Amino acid sequence: HHDHPYLRLLEKMPCVPTGRTLKTGRQTMLPHTPLTSTPPENAMIDNQRLPQHIAIIMDGNGRWAQARGMVRSKGHQAGVEAVDKITSECSRLGIRFLTLYTFSTENWNRPPEEVNAIMQLLITSLVEETFMKNNVRMRVIGDRERLAPEVRKCIEDCEKHTSENTGLTLVIALSYSSRWEITDAMKHIAQKVKDGTLEPDDINEQTIAENLESHFMPDPELLIRTGGEQRISNYLLWQCAYSELYFTDIFWPDFDEKALYNAIEDYQHRERRFGKTSAQVKADTGLQQTV
Ligand code: IPE
Ligand code: IPE
Ligand code: MG
Repeated sequence: HHDHPYLRLLEKMPCVPTGRTLKTGRQTMLPHTPLTSTPPENAMIDNQRLPQHIAIIMDGNGRWAQARGMVRSKGHQAGVEAVDKITSECSRLGIRFLTLYTFSTENWNRPPEEVNAIMQLLITSLVEETFMKNNVRMRVIGDRERLAPEVRKCIEDCEKHTSENTGLTLVIALSYSSRWEITDAMKHIAQKVKDGTLEPDDINEQTIAENLESHFMPDPELLIRTGGEQRISNYLLWQCAYSELYFTDIFWPDFDEKALYNAIEDYQHRERRFGKTSAQVKADTGLQQTV
């Protein structure tokens, strides 16, 4: 494991936690150094063209565990380690937003034992792991009303304690589905029309975006799904209108820094045309470069 060139590089960097020795908490908070880090020499990614927002559907925890003869909840536990790893790495790279699909509206239909295990895991991992150590600001999107009071308190405390952090914004999609979010936004908009503060004719795309719970984040340029399925599962439908999609068979607990680099590298080879022709896009970039 340790002779991977990237890991050697990590160990040399004083600002990067390589293990669990650096405990989280304000006192031991590490300075955030956005965009000053370099990718490993063997990773073919361009630091100047990183996505500012990466969204991930973290799938495959259950199958990861079952393949090892373990109960599904062990897979969720292992998944927390991957969350920690990927959050640190995105933070180190200077990515501005990382949105993780943690628990969907539809996941409420799972067996109660599994739902409970996930919620318990959330409470223990939100407090201890991943957030303060890299100047990470944590936000939750989703239907909080369905969460148990102790889970709600935990995320609210965490949001409050990390709200002044200036590094990566980690968005946890919890009890979240895109149709729920859009429906909720429609209610807000309808209320404004009813109150007479908004004219139906004035409703545009920005009105809708502003009324979504995720209004504070830019659209993700890159959407990653692990675990082999090629579907969106009710995630960020509005926001992913023009995102680049990346699917990998790797189960979430096995998704590591190298896998993240592969996804970013793949993204950087895409031509984002936004409806234009390739020639137009090339001309536009040429123009930008000469300015
Ligand atoms: C994703 O892993 C995590 C959650 C949905 C909470 P799964 O639990 O869906 O794992 P698989 O897809 O069954 O392997
Ligand atoms: C999507 O995973 C939700 C999360 C990763 C939290 P699922 O495993 O629940 O997705 P489907 O139902 O198989 O599409
Ligand atoms: Mg799944």
